[in-house]
Amino acid sequence: MEKVSLENILEAVNDVPALPQVVLRVMQLTEDPESTAQDIHKVLDQDQAMTARVLRLANSAYYGFARRIATVSDAVVLLGFKTIRGIVLAAAVSDLLQKRYEGYALEEGELWRHSQACAIASRLIARRCRFTNLDLAYTAGLLHDIGKVILNRYMKEAYHEVVELVTAQEIPFMNAEDQILGFNHAMVGARLAERWSLPPQLVEAIEKHHQPGQASEDQKLTAMVHLADAVCLSMGIGIGVDGLLYPVYPESLALLGVSEADLEAIVSDMTDLLSDPTSLQ
Ligand SMILES: [Fe+2]
Ligand SMILES: [Fe+2]
Repeated sequence: MEKVSLENILEAVNDVPALPQVVLRVMQLTEDPESTAQDIHKVLDQDQAMTARVLRLANSAYYGFARRIATVSDAVVLLGFKTIRGIVLAAAVSDLLQKRYEGYALEEGELWRHSQACAIASRLIARRCRFTNLDLAYTAGLLHDIGKVILNRYMKEAYHEVVELVTAQEIPFMNAEDQILGFNHAMVGARLAERWSLPPQLVEAIEKHHQPGQASEDQKLTAMVHLADAVCLSMGIGIGVDGLLYPVYPESLALLGVSEADLEAIVSDMTDLLSDPTSLQ
């Protein structure tokens, strides 16, 4: 098929809805040390669907609270501002990520499962290597494949051509995507992150998640997302066609001071966690 034009890509990026006002307001509030749990509660109260999603995520097995978190104020107090911020962003993109993306061989719900699992794995890796911002790692993991939402419409047509190229030339999926479409999901996802005014480290982690060696803004963050993606791949969680000939960069392990055994421990933590039906809802 013909290559996609830059104009088409920019149009498609612009077609994705902006982040809801409620989310932007929560982002601002969580930046401000003067804010209270009550302030965040008040803002989220304007959007009941969002509140329900936030509470569902806060009650997922990952956070492991024995008693049910029933209100946003409780969630803020128990989880803290930064974690709530990540959860609210996750709640905002959940509908979009839930859809079926057949261009990437992802059934309905699979990209959402993959994104959540990658977010959790990124946070676990971040904790293991004592990275200071666990919630940034969570959000980067959550959004790393968001570009698939945009490129899906073109990948639907190019699917067979891309898969054939991967098999014939034994090149990673993303390179084949690049060669056939002229764009790949990582770079397109980064453009969307920019449009959403997300911080530059996040934009970079999305853009370089398959080539962590090229990161410069925050190499560690990108390396964490890359390894988390590899963890999800090894567990077979929502990888679809993106997992074809996936090259894992050993340099990422060295950079983070994480061993193969550490990654195996994370896989086993993840396996325990995912055995709970409330995880990745
Ligand atoms: Fe990817
Ligand atoms: Fe991925």
